[in-house]
Amino acid sequence: MRTEQAVTVARGDYLPYPYAIPSIALEFDLDPARTRVLSRLSIERQPGVPADTPLALKGEDLALVSVAVDGSPIAEGGYTISDGVLRLTGLPAACEVEIVSDCRPAENSTLMGLYVSGASLFTQCEAEGFRRITWFADRPDVMSRYRVTLRGTRADYPLLLSNGNLVDAGDLPDGRHQAVWEDPHPKPCYLFALVAGNLTCRELRTRTRSGRDVLLQVYSDPGSESQTEWALASLERSLRWDEDRFGLELDLDRFMVVAARDFNMGAMENKGLNIFNAAYVLADPDTATDANYLAIEAVIGHEYFHNWTGNRVTCRDWFQLSLKEGLTVFRDQEFTADMMARGQDAAAAASARAVKRIDDVATLRAAQFPEDAGPMAHPIRPESYQEIGNFYTATVYEKGAEVIRMQHTLLGEAGFRAGMDEYFRRHDGQAVTCDDFVDAMESVYRDLHPGRDLSVFRRWYQQAGTPRVSVTLDHDAAAQRCTVTLSQRNPAVGVEKQDASAQEKPPLHIPFALGLLDPQGRALPLTLDGKTQETVLLELTTASAQWTFENIPAQPIPSLLRDFSAPVIVDYPWTDAALALLSAHDGNPFARWEAGQELATRQILANAARHQAGEPLAADPTLVDAWRATLRDPKLDAAYRARALMLPSEKTLAERMQPIDPPALAAARDFLRAELGRQLAQDWRAAYQDNQTEGAFSPAPGPAGRRALKNLSLAYLMAGDAAANQALAETQYRGAANMTDRMGALSALVNEGSGDAVGQAIADFHTRWQHDPLVIDKWFALQATARGTDVAAARALMAHPAFTLRNPNRARALVFQFCLNNARGLHAADGAGYDFWAEQVLALDALNPEVAARLARAMDNWARYAPALRTGMQAALGRVRAHAGLSRNVAEIVAKALD
Ligand code: ARG
Ligand code: ZN
Repeated sequence: MRTEQAVTVARGDYLPYPYAIPSIALEFDLDPARTRVLSRLSIERQPGVPADTPLALKGEDLALVSVAVDGSPIAEGGYTISDGVLRLTGLPAACEVEIVSDCRPAENSTLMGLYVSGASLFTQCEAEGFRRITWFADRPDVMSRYRVTLRGTRADYPLLLSNGNLVDAGDLPDGRHQAVWEDPHPKPCYLFALVAGNLTCRELRTRTRSGRDVLLQVYSDPGSESQTEWALASLERSLRWDEDRFGLELDLDRFMVVAARDFNMGAMENKGLNIFNAAYVLADPDTATDANYLAIEAVIGHEYFHNWTGNRVTCRDWFQLSLKEGLTVFRDQEFTADMMARGQDAAAAASARAVKRIDDVATLRAAQFPEDAGPMAHPIRPESYQEIGNFYTATVYEKGAEVIRMQHTLLGEAGFRAGMDEYFRRHDGQAVTCDDFVDAMESVYRDLHPGRDLSVFRRWYQQAGTPRVSVTLDHDAAAQRCTVTLSQRNPAVGVEKQDASAQEKPPLHIPFALGLLDPQGRALPLTLDGKTQETVLLELTTASAQWTFENIPAQPIPSLLRDFSAPVIVDYPWTDAALALLSAHDGNPFARWEAGQELATRQILANAARHQAGEPLAADPTLVDAWRATLRDPKLDAAYRARALMLPSEKTLAERMQPIDPPALAAARDFLRAELGRQLAQDWRAAYQDNQTEGAFSPAPGPAGRRALKNLSLAYLMAGDAAANQALAETQYRGAANMTDRMGALSALVNEGSGDAVGQAIADFHTRWQHDPLVIDKWFALQATARGTDVAAARALMAHPAFTLRNPNRARALVFQFCLNNARGLHAADGAGYDFWAEQVLALDALNPEVAARLARAMDNWARYAPALRTGMQAALGRVRAHAGLSRNVAEIVAKALD
């Protein structure tokens, strides 16, 4: 059996690697059944390292053929292999080690290392996949120059790609052909990549701002050439943006993006040869939604930006993952915001930026807050792990981006840019730590704010959990003065709770943006540090602090945590009337959205309690009036209104309920949706008509925003009165000119509709798109999350011939969507949902541990659920844990959940 020993790696255990490996020459004889890999390493013992220190190289699922040192074969006994480590002792201080080994790409269902997808070969090496290709010092602080020779048949592999520049290509005497690639930039092995197969290419040439000509290419399956235009254009925009905003230029002559149909995550920033999940490359109006277009641009940007933040400056060890991921997510968020705001006047640009911020904060609250409150809670720089693949988390990525954003807020745009310049000046070409990054930023912060530093701020890197900030306002009418008190709490979370001495953690440095409104909703000018503004930035660095503002005639209404200036939870005793006022008048569009969300949250939570008590549910007019006012406000653009009128997600709501009762939340949320649909039917119908998009399709923010509002209106109309509005949905389905509208209509029909038309639409959609796997993923996902889909229906979908667990996108579309986004189905009273989850985790684990471990996390927060659900969830976790042969990935997740 495979159950692996749980070995915990600790951040404090870091030791430098005793050898340098300045260069590596790899030769591949590509064959899906058995690929032979020859690796020639130049080895140099580091100064001061004892001569008897073994050279330890990691390997996994490899068959060793031979080992030689300086051309002389080493017999068995001259080296040892145990626990996946090949050890060579007695090496000269400098030598060449040659290792020949075989791997089996066609049998590799883990999609880590070298694997087959379609008829092509791909690699994924981050974090620890290179050891599945050849024995190596598989850690990010060992950096080498790569020369890669790829050999294969022209029939199967007309295209042979690796990192860097193509330096030689041609036919071989045995009928095969070869390509030789050299990457001039030393890199860690996690950035190695190869692609071999028959792929089509779209390309363009452009010039960097210093005047170098570069070739940008996007490769994909033959037949998908019409779907790569947006990705290539996004790549060019990314290149321009990094030049303009950060002064960072492409350092290669050629930059390639390749789409793979089978891929564990989103994409991978391999030097000069990014490999992408096809879902983040391929788009055309008929097959991709506006959300897909936006995600493609963001992920193309993300991977491109890694070329500097990740590749030129990389991580010393995997505990520093957020050094590159948090920073690069921040960069891709800013890229998207700049793309959404460009060419607009100040007010429209502010609204566009708020839309992006709203989307990012909604993601953080739905995915990261629960993680930070559960058994997998970890600081953005984790202290320990068993399997690093389990730490590509919302905390490292999304909260990590928030921690970078706070530094941007504290330093300002120019200061942050100066800090980035300093970071590259100090560390270009190095493998460094999160502390090195903060050091560079701090050097600028100290200049801007003499006497202050980022020492308290650094605690964001070592403390898990979402801080709570409570706010009190004291208004002195006689003195026309208002005193604001902020107090923070940082209670222990996750494993920290086991340490009795650490129940309350020290305060953090929290940038808190605040505005005050008068009772009519007008902004009050606030004076802080001699400057008068509508928004002030309060820097809370202690448990509690106070700020006093003058010339405040009446009790003001506070607009708190504007733009979500820190990843915290705010506690303030709002009245519904104050929230309604903010939702109508707050000059900060993010905070204005927030007020409406808070108002809705309160009503949904109150109705969930009524539902549990068997009492009738009720919609308070304050909310209905606020929604009507937003819907009718002519000054708000459609994209913004679509966000403001959406109810908070069930996941976000769950974080506000103790204990969590998802079916009650779903009932309460659905009730409010239906009430809003019914009571505002006239307005929804008007919004539906006013936001039609005509003419050629464009995924630009304007038309995409109108489609979002139109389809939201349809959803509300159907929720309010399905019978009266089904014809509208059917007509939209049939006449749709793009995938956003088609999916919007299909979703309304599947979730709210009735009669034959629903089944007909589902069948029609399948018939139309059965040849496009990405569209069929949408078809599965929509059904997996539909209101009526229970476990039996999910199993029936799995029996469809197009379903397979082996393709991660397909598994995610159906199994993950059901387990993560269908609360009613998963939490069915008979426990069938939990059985289904356990069964699928085990089935996936036998194929792909990294993907299985993500599904395993669906039960993370079982202990916070209502008693009737909790026991079933715990039992299902117990059954998975007891299974013999669990991967290290899944074993870590379920053990932490149950401890
Ligand atoms: N560095 C990639 C990114 O851009 C993520 C790759 C992680 N892959 C994996 N199999 N764990 O975010
Ligand atoms: Zn990344």
